[in-house]
Amino acid sequence: MTDTPDSATTSVKSMDDIMALCKRRGFIYQASEIYQGSKIAGSDSAISFNGFWDYGPLGSQLKKNLRDAWWTDVVMMGCDGQNGPNGKPVEIVPIDSCIIQHPKVWEASGHLAGFADPMRKCNSCGHFVRADHLWEILADNCVWLSNLLQEFTPIGGDIDTPRLMKWAKGKGKKLAPNLALVKNPEVTLSWLATRINGQPDAPVEMKEFVQHLATEQLNETGLQDPCPLCGGPLGEPAPFKLMFETWAGIMQSDDNKVYLRPETAQGIFINFKNVVDTTRVSVPFGIAQTGKAFRNEVTPRNFTFRSREFEQMEIEFFCHPDDSKAWYTFWRDWRMQWWQDLGLKGDNLILREHDNDELAHYAKEGAGTADIEYMFPFTAPGYGELEGIADRTNFDLTQHAQHSKTKLDYFDNTRGELAKNGQPKGERYLPHVIEPSAGLDRGVLAILCEAYTPDPDRASGVYMKFHPRLAPIKAAVFPLVKKDGMPEIAEPLYKELRKRFGHLGTIEYDEKQSIGKRYARMDEAGCPFCFTIDSETLTDKTVTVRHRDTLDQERIALDKVGDFLAEKLGL
Ligand code: GAP
Repeated sequence: MTDTPDSATTSVKSMDDIMALCKRRGFIYQASEIYQGSKIAGSDSAISFNGFWDYGPLGSQLKKNLRDAWWTDVVMMGCDGQNGPNGKPVEIVPIDSCIIQHPKVWEASGHLAGFADPMRKCNSCGHFVRADHLWEILADNCVWLSNLLQEFTPIGGDIDTPRLMKWAKGKGKKLAPNLALVKNPEVTLSWLATRINGQPDAPVEMKEFVQHLATEQLNETGLQDPCPLCGGPLGEPAPFKLMFETWAGIMQSDDNKVYLRPETAQGIFINFKNVVDTTRVSVPFGIAQTGKAFRNEVTPRNFTFRSREFEQMEIEFFCHPDDSKAWYTFWRDWRMQWWQDLGLKGDNLILREHDNDELAHYAKEGAGTADIEYMFPFTAPGYGELEGIADRTNFDLTQHAQHSKTKLDYFDNTRGELAKNGQPKGERYLPHVIEPSAGLDRGVLAILCEAYTPDPDRASGVYMKFHPRLAPIKAAVFPLVKKDGMPEIAEPLYKELRKRFGHLGTIEYDEKQSIGKRYARMDEAGCPFCFTIDSETLTDKTVTVRHRDTLDQERIALDKVGDFLAEKLGL
């Protein structure tokens, strides 16, 4: 996650409120919710089942709409029908590869050897922490530290020893039993006193302060990082493998161990030759796929942002090595534009080029890598990655060619020296790859956060301002009351709209409760248009259209409702 420029002005929304709405309205539920806290037969402790999320009726349609938008704009329309840097239409074909592949795939890709997080184990409580996230976790999620900092208030340059002593013997004992301040308060406090008292102009660095709190005494034990759970000292970092393992076949041994894919990309690389041999594509072209990926994340957190099962939307775009820079720039800028067109705007969305020290194992110095990042409420004022665009050079094709002993180079008959007949002789090369790799679940999360709009003047107190293209409910039809012939008009209108627009999302029909309550429900669901049949409809055959964002109401002809909606949905 990235720090923000000081100028960011976005007001921070409450993630708790957004998660509550997601649950209340059926966007996203915790997976296996009714089993949370349950123990497995034969075990004494409850399994820690985090990092898995189920999508409810509204969430699954929202997710489908985002996936469909990507599929249509990227794959079917080839980047919205625009030309690439070669002046020709962008050529992309889809595939749908298996989640489980031959284990050699992951040996070749480097995942078996290198796809691991550095972990540190607490010597006191056994809790594991990601070494590279320690200070982020301490700053954002450490209960004992935030509680302790409330107590740690130097007065006139002196630490408030009695207050800290009280904390150590009371709350601290419960929150961080292995913290040095709790186990041996006098020693730690005496260190703090010599370090801090009477030196108001020499403030102790937060990091140094916390490290000392975790140790018995500087001179005896040296500095150690504290466990965010219990305050005990953390051991040295060791790698923790992120791929989920299972077995293919009856034997459950290392000989038939297989892996759930940690990215959809490798399924594309191993099918490069198949696609070239069986279709009429020619370089430059892309292969796209959407699908589930699995990572046994050590610290799944921030709602769906870091999950253990998630969906990706990936493109591997194959081009001549000389053209990779131009295609990288093209994809980077177009992908940014795409997210903006779907409503992620202003300071909330940034494009960030990587520094050289952030390069992934497949990236080469000087080859471009950029992230499209969104300011989620839990990253604000910083940003979290939504999509990465990377020049992977020919790393993956080279690896798979070597490990599978299959020729994966490409014969390009449009290149090379000219023959006597004036035609190019052709050139054989391993294409370079530009990879725009987006997270579908992170995309949905960003869309949900962006859409969430508190409005105290509405009955619902909030509305979801989805782009009409993404809104899971496209329109609602309401008879004002359930009598006087109104349902008899509303129902046929509902059926007509459902037939015409049902492939894009839900058309809602509701005749229960007051009209205000029905509008409020649609505001929380993010339905952009409500059509109400009232007494005027009976006489002049017009209906009321209620616009979600402006709350404007207008009347249109009953027989023009379908065309009105088609225009608003950009059809
Ligand atoms: N093939 C390249 C690749 O997988 P990545 O940056 O590891 O690159 C691409 O993942 C995208 O997948 C990320 O930008 C993010 O949106 C999404 N993603 C990665 N790990 C995720 C996780 N644990 N939970 C949810 N989304 C994740």
